[in-house]
Amino acid sequence: MKFFVDTADVDAIRELNELGMVDGVTTNPSLIAKSGRDILEVTKEICDMVDGPVSAEVVATEADAMIEEGRKLAKIADNIAVKVPLTWDGLKACKVLSDDGNMVNVTLCFSANQALLAAKAGATFISPFIGRLDDLNLDGMDLIADIREIYDNYGFDTQILAASIRSANHMSEAAKIGADVATAPPAVIHKMAEHVLTDKGLAAFLKDAEKAGIKIV
Ligand code: E4P
Repeated sequence: MKFFVDTADVDAIRELNELGMVDGVTTNPSLIAKSGRDILEVTKEICDMVDGPVSAEVVATEADAMIEEGRKLAKIADNIAVKVPLTWDGLKACKVLSDDGNMVNVTLCFSANQALLAAKAGATFISPFIGRLDDLNLDGMDLIADIREIYDNYGFDTQILAASIRSANHMSEAAKIGADVATAPPAVIHKMAEHVLTDKGLAAFLKDAEKAGIKIV
């Protein structure tokens, strides 16, 4: 499973990128607003840093305006994936932008039917939002499983990009189901390294090393 980082925080991206943890980046208008930076400028900086796809989202709601914005975003760098919402206009924009040769990430997907339409419209990525479904007491992971089954039934090459990831468990569950990509906030990727037994075991080893006076360098 590829790891995308769900942030516009360039320092956080740089740190994870140096560790080989970044196959791509996703942003959205809320994350850009949180960065406090100009969308074109911060997106360019991220694209220069990361080799993989960098999703940049349109803010228009009508197809023609989305296409215009998407074409402008796509000019930032070769690794831009234009992000459009899963509305009827978004699907129209997806078709045109992907026919132009751009990567397109169709976002805000909450049903298998929406994912089916995005694949038909030529989406490179479909972004089902796990956490926001879980927030409503639904099971976001069921949606990932349904889309996996449907795409595999018909050989769609649209990649399933598990989004709205809120916990380390979401990452392993998405990987078990076979999501192609998961995008997570940097804090969730850090959390994946943690285990209480690792901390406990390390404390015991260090105590014994100190008692025995073990020195390596
Ligand atoms: C995905 O591309 C979105 O940017 C993101 O995962 C949304 O996550 P949230 O539901 O935690 O805001």
